[in-house]
Amino acid sequence: MIRQETAVVVLAAGIGSRMRSRLPKVLHPIAGRPMIAHVLDTIGRLNPARVSVVIGEDMEAVAKAAAPYPTAVQSPRLGTGHAVLSARPLLDGFEGTVVIAYGDTPLVTAETYQKIIDVVAAEPACTVAVLGFRPADPGGYGRLLVDGDGRVTGIVEARDATREQLSIGLCNSGVFAIDGRRLFSYLERVGTGNASGEYYLTDIIAIAHADGDTCRAVDGDEGELLGVNTRADLARAEAAVQHQLRQRAMDNGATLIDPASVYFSYDTRLGRDVTVSPNVVFGPGTVVGDDVEILGFCHFIEARIDDGARVGPFARLRPGAHVGAGAHVGNFVEMKNATLHDGAKANHLSYIGDAEIGARANVGAGTITCNYDGFVKARTEIGPGAFIGSNTSLVAPVRVGAGAIIGAGSVISQDVGDDALGLARGTFTEKAGWAREFRERQAAAKAASSKT
Ligand code: UD1
Ligand code: MG
Repeated sequence: MIRQETAVVVLAAGIGSRMRSRLPKVLHPIAGRPMIAHVLDTIGRLNPARVSVVIGEDMEAVAKAAAPYPTAVQSPRLGTGHAVLSARPLLDGFEGTVVIAYGDTPLVTAETYQKIIDVVAAEPACTVAVLGFRPADPGGYGRLLVDGDGRVTGIVEARDATREQLSIGLCNSGVFAIDGRRLFSYLERVGTGNASGEYYLTDIIAIAHADGDTCRAVDGDEGELLGVNTRADLARAEAAVQHQLRQRAMDNGATLIDPASVYFSYDTRLGRDVTVSPNVVFGPGTVVGDDVEILGFCHFIEARIDDGARVGPFARLRPGAHVGAGAHVGNFVEMKNATLHDGAKANHLSYIGDAEIGARANVGAGTITCNYDGFVKARTEIGPGAFIGSNTSLVAPVRVGAGAIIGAGSVISQDVGDDALGLARGTFTEKAGWAREFRERQAAAKAASSKT
């Protein structure tokens, strides 16, 4: 079998009106990145010689998401056949196999695309392979017409089908592999004589068959072919991708106590022997080392957690949070753009932003870095081994030296030297018997006034 080069055309010109969104459909995120990024990532695994994305007018944001792949603008939208024709300049001179994929069908795997590519490559007479499937409800899908020799002779759209054709269970997924030397010769002959008045890509099958070329169908999996048209479809696609990501995390050696309650991003990386308790959300850009324990109800975005750390429950790690090896971040602690060096602890009720907390330092309950004055952000630096007493406000920019101790309840607005005590709070006074005398005085005064 001679392996041809592959080019992929991704159709994404539809606005997706049923999403009822200002955002183009293919930019809606699944597992933390746009739907179309999932499609392009999968396609990248086929090592294609060319990829082109067909977009509609005013879809610069989609073009940006598709970069570095080039886009062709289809305007107006005259059907799937017309959409592929719009990509013609980008396929100029290409003689390999052209795969047609869809920006709103994010679950198709590289193996499935490869299967239809291989079908075209395996049989010299075969110029088109279509990915078919047998949905529980064939409804509005195009039906594949297959002859006694297993050749596909045509595809009939549901709107154009006879009652008899509608009883066919084998449907068109829309995904094709087509001999690049023949593709545009077929497409040039597609007309608009159908119920929708559109140029149907599906018509190339009957045209190829009439030319004496062979078209084949490959049976696909309905779950993989889920197309996103509505927000409910989007939720189904999200669920399917989350299922895969949970499985992958467990396959790689993480324990998920309740997998269904843990949400990953496409790029979440977990080390070995990580344990994740229920109800944890991993936003994009989070990397977790080995032997990390993550307790329930945590939320992470662009965070790094090193080996042996313990985080949560109820910890929030925002962009730039870095929890060092063996460090502890406890309940109701928020970190942003801050590093907790190895073995440091912030166990209760803290905000740590734009800060550097030295190794083995202890940040007491209720400590706040006051990093923002309404205009600019400033940094807090705490040296190794320092001890910050509970309910301390660190007014940045400020530096607490190595081994220093800050008295509880302090508002620290000046630097504290190494091994020094920093204390900034009202002085303590005690007046013996004052409270009893106060009560007696007040009670007497009240009694006197009620008599008059
Ligand atoms: C199409 C197929 C149908 C198949 C179904 C599978 C045709 C004629 N019919 O029907 O056989 O069962 O998909 O879901 O191909 N698009 C463009 N430009 C256009 C029109 C469509 O880019 O001018 C894109 C859309 O964004 C969408 C995809 O092509 O992602 C399919 O278009 P859609 O209108 O949904 O086709 P269906 O009627 O569902
Ligand atoms: Mg459709």
